[in-house]
Amino acid sequence: MGIIISPSILSADFMNLEQEIKSVQNSGADWIHIDVMDGHFVPNITIGVPVVKSIRKRTDMFLDVHLMIENPEKYVSVFADAGADLITFHIEACKNESKVKDVIQLIKQKNKKAGISIKPNTDVKAILPYINEVDLVLVMTVEPGFGGQEFIHECAMKIPIIRENSNSDLIIQVDGGINNLTAKICKSLGANSLVAGSYIYKSNDYKKAIENLQS
Ligand code: DX5
Ligand code: ZN
Repeated sequence: MGIIISPSILSADFMNLEQEIKSVQNSGADWIHIDVMDGHFVPNITIGVPVVKSIRKRTDMFLDVHLMIENPEKYVSVFADAGADLITFHIEACKNESKVKDVIQLIKQKNKKAGISIKPNTDVKAILPYINEVDLVLVMTVEPGFGGQEFIHECAMKIPIIRENSNSDLIIQVDGGINNLTAKICKSLGANSLVAGSYIYKSNDYKKAIENLQS
């Protein structure tokens, strides 16, 4: 399996979002990563359902929706109907094991791919029980909330542990501080999907930036 590159539009020019999505598509991006923040789970507010709906109308790209919100079970269905292809939620947003399982089920009932994410300070052991029930595990390599932060190296050490314990078709995605150097580290540890916001959108050559992440 190749490396799935998912540019985060959080660092894109929101006044030209359609063009910003087309540009990364034409530059070799595989997915579009959409960061949804609620001001509670993380100290920032970003994109909501109407924007996902608008994006869906203008692109056929695979929409990778990263929910950094409390009570994900309340919002899975609206994001699915808005056009998400993959819905990733945070294990830390679920009070207990049955909540985690409920959210995975809700996503699957909508015939969408399901992802579960883990914040830097959460022990990797917490998600191991669910990794074979989801399509993707998202390892956060920064504290979720903002683009442009520095990669936390210790977080990447979760990748091989997840890889060793999972089915071979599990997608392991990393998000936060990904650039040409940290991408290499993550890939060598077993990640096969990279989210990158500022590295791509703050560069002056999207194609080159994406190629650097792939190589
Ligand atoms: C952070 C978001 C990321 C963010 C990454 O909470 O989940 O997707 O956009 O930005 P960079 O690549 O700039 O670290
Ligand atoms: Zn993200």
